[in-house]
Amino acid sequence: VMDIRSLYSDMDLFTYDPGYTSTGSCKSAITYIDGDEGVLLHRGYPIEEIAEHGDFLEAAFLILKGELPNDAQRTKFVTDISRHSMLNEQISFFFRGFRRDSHPMAVMCGVVGAMAAFYHDSININDPHQRMVASYRLIAKMPTVVSWTYKYAMGQPFVYPRNDLDYASNFLHMMFATPCEPYKVNPTLARAMDRILILHADHEQNASTSTVRLAGSSGANPFACIAAGIASLWGPAHGGANEAVLAMLHEIGSKERIPEFLKRAKDKNDSFRLMGFGHRVYKNYDPRAKIMQRTCHEVLDELGIKDEPLLELAMELERIALSDEYFIERKLFPNVDFYSGIIFRAMGIPTQMFTSLFALARTVGWIAQWNEMLTDPEQKIGRPRQLYVGSPPRHYLPLHQRG
Ligand code: ACO
Repeated sequence: VMDIRSLYSDMDLFTYDPGYTSTGSCKSAITYIDGDEGVLLHRGYPIEEIAEHGDFLEAAFLILKGELPNDAQRTKFVTDISRHSMLNEQISFFFRGFRRDSHPMAVMCGVVGAMAAFYHDSININDPHQRMVASYRLIAKMPTVVSWTYKYAMGQPFVYPRNDLDYASNFLHMMFATPCEPYKVNPTLARAMDRILILHADHEQNASTSTVRLAGSSGANPFACIAAGIASLWGPAHGGANEAVLAMLHEIGSKERIPEFLKRAKDKNDSFRLMGFGHRVYKNYDPRAKIMQRTCHEVLDELGIKDEPLLELAMELERIALSDEYFIERKLFPNVDFYSGIIFRAMGIPTQMFTSLFALARTVGWIAQWNEMLTDPEQKIGRPRQLYVGSPPRHYLPLHQRG
């Protein structure tokens, strides 16, 4: 048997690191995470302070440009984003091509990718101005895309953006207004939605962000790169977890059944995992989960929802898991997705939409990281190596000689 190493004539040294658990792929000045301490900073500012004092567009400005905006910059940014909130009317036909029961993430992959065919001036990725225009367009149009996936699934007419509303309120308006009934924005719900968007805006080199960087490293169109990020986010181990948490809570059904499911989560022969628990980087409480839990209580109070069984179940599950040896040893804590689904549900957002809301928020991080990558003089096309474990070299056999 031939030694496989003889296949590598260019046997230069590389690391084999499946899942990139110890490989840094880039330098970045955007987000800092200390997973052991449960710290998350954007451009140096703690997530707790941004979520408490800022709003989503301010966070977007910070993440994209590196500093908090002053008053004039903030006004201009808000105006510029509003001006891009409409979709080209032709794009509405893309929605109409899908089955009404399509998963919103499938529709988003298609529609956002298709946007590359509409905004031709965004093709010049070496021009910083054009890159910023593409970034503004993506941030501005994403609420329109996400709400239209919902309207289409509901069989309702698309609602156009209202530029007099703030970002989160406008999104809720496009989701819930109909031609027969305007949507009266509830400031508590709008603030909660805004905060959820802040909490999801960026999280350094996770799977979807790395996908956007990898796609972009070849010089690909920004809308195509973001469509790639949406595809990567969809999986239940990543952004799809918020949807999976709710499905899991429904499956567990009652507090009495928690021990049974915890037992399953610990059983290595059972594929069941506690969704919304664990994180590749956080080996402590995810700071976003704490804010999310507080926001969850605020929303339920505002809506007068008392004794929400799913929230009670979630809190009990958290309590029991955090005192369980298995979860303590492995440092498995609730992550950002654990409570977000309960808030979305209370707001009347269907479970299937949860991951698209994550994508809406994360667009800021994706496009900021894409911009950063393109201005990094050390950046090369992303091209990992592999450890070949296939057949040694052999000769092609004519058909009649094969067994
Ligand atoms: N339930 C039960 N056991 C778990 C869980 C869980 N949710 N998460 C990790 N473990 C166990 C693993 O089985 C493993 O145990 P072992 O050492 O005995 O083999 C150990 O904890 C380490 O887990 P890994 O899978 O090696 O950790 P990794 O960093 O690769 O995975 C991940 C992180 C994917 C988030 C994982 O914790 C998971 O699947 N969680 C559930 C899905 C989820 O909530 N995803 C959202 C992530 S946050 C986000 O994307 C916004």
